[in-house]
Amino acid sequence: MSASPLSSPPKKTPAVPILRIPFDAKDRAFLAEGLAKILDSGALVMGENTKAFEREFAALCGVPYAVATSNCTTALEIILRAVGVEGGSVIVPTNTFIATAFAAVHAGAKVVFADSDPTTLCLDPKDVERRLRPDTRAVIIVHIGGIITPAIEDLKRLCDAKGIALVEDCAHAHGSTYKGTAAGAWGWAGAFSFFPTKPLVSGEGGIITTRDQAVYEKALMLRNHGKNPKLGNRITELGHNWRMSEITALLALQQTRKAKELFADRKATAAYYDRELSGLAGAKPLAMPQGMDSTYYKYVMVLEPGLPRDALKKLMKERFQVSLTGEVYDVPCHKEPVWQQHPRAAINASDSFPGADEIAARHFCLPLYPGLTDAERAHVVSSLKAALKEVARA
Ligand SMILES: Cc1ncc(COP(=O)(O)O)c(C=O)c1O
Repeated sequence: MSASPLSSPPKKTPAVPILRIPFDAKDRAFLAEGLAKILDSGALVMGENTKAFEREFAALCGVPYAVATSNCTTALEIILRAVGVEGGSVIVPTNTFIATAFAAVHAGAKVVFADSDPTTLCLDPKDVERRLRPDTRAVIIVHIGGIITPAIEDLKRLCDAKGIALVEDCAHAHGSTYKGTAAGAWGWAGAFSFFPTKPLVSGEGGIITTRDQAVYEKALMLRNHGKNPKLGNRITELGHNWRMSEITALLALQQTRKAKELFADRKATAAYYDRELSGLAGAKPLAMPQGMDSTYYKYVMVLEPGLPRDALKKLMKERFQVSLTGEVYDVPCHKEPVWQQHPRAAINASDSFPGADEIAARHFCLPLYPGLTDAERAHVVSSLKAALKEVARA
């Protein structure tokens, strides 16, 4: 009889870390050469790398304009300031990272939370419609885990009909498309993050994409202290320093040039998990919507009701050395204590959001990043199968 994989983990199985960010010799040579050029030029901010990053990232998303920023939170705030949300309200999914909601607050609006659909993790357009108010200026859709919900078409129609800006928080969705249109090209404008966990990374960093020339020109001013180039750099906007440095832009450019390769690697891992985990007892991969091509910021699994996520994660880590990534997300934003300290910042934090609660309680995410080896992928799958059996028995 063969030994139980539970009692003795197979020898020489690879430990699978929560994240690796691969930079190969070619990447490093590109970065070294680029850094030398930056140092020689003395242009440490708003130089050639920022311009090239903006041009090439806009092309990747299929939009004419892009504006590099210090991070995604500031990119969102700039977009919302360009919309003119101050004094009004902004609808935000409660199933998101807190930065989405904070960008609306810092742009001078009140947050109105809306629920999400557990089958897509993204905004539920019916709930958005219920929560519209006369002062609603924008709706922020977040492409959770890289998923662009098919409901984006309904949301776009709704926002267009009401004259409300549809803003995309694309922090998770570099390169994801729905019906051939990329994240960042659907709404009034999109905001991307280049934080180290994201599909493309530069440490800190963000970028705005838009088809709208007026938004583009306003964003350029807002990120640079409100300087208006058409008026000899007189200050015409209440701006800020939300610029990206040239060294960061160099990294972001390297990632943008390598994006297709990085996305293909992520998709190959997702396809492997799809194949190996179909029909699994205890948990199912979240089905991707028809017509959607995700770059899989997260590979999301949905646990059967009653199975304990914490015990599963602990077992995966301690018995099998597989670190599952964080959830997207395990606490909906409206439940954060901050809204009790600032009760006027969000209008409906005490409402209930059953869709978001279900998402928060029942999903977990498998390791997925470029460079996962075949042995590591196989180890994730076999460990998950064994760990699910054990938590179901317990
Ligand atoms: C959905 C979402 N929005 C916004 C942000 C903020 O991104 P940044 O850290 O680049 O400001 C994040 C970061 O994790 C995020 O996940």
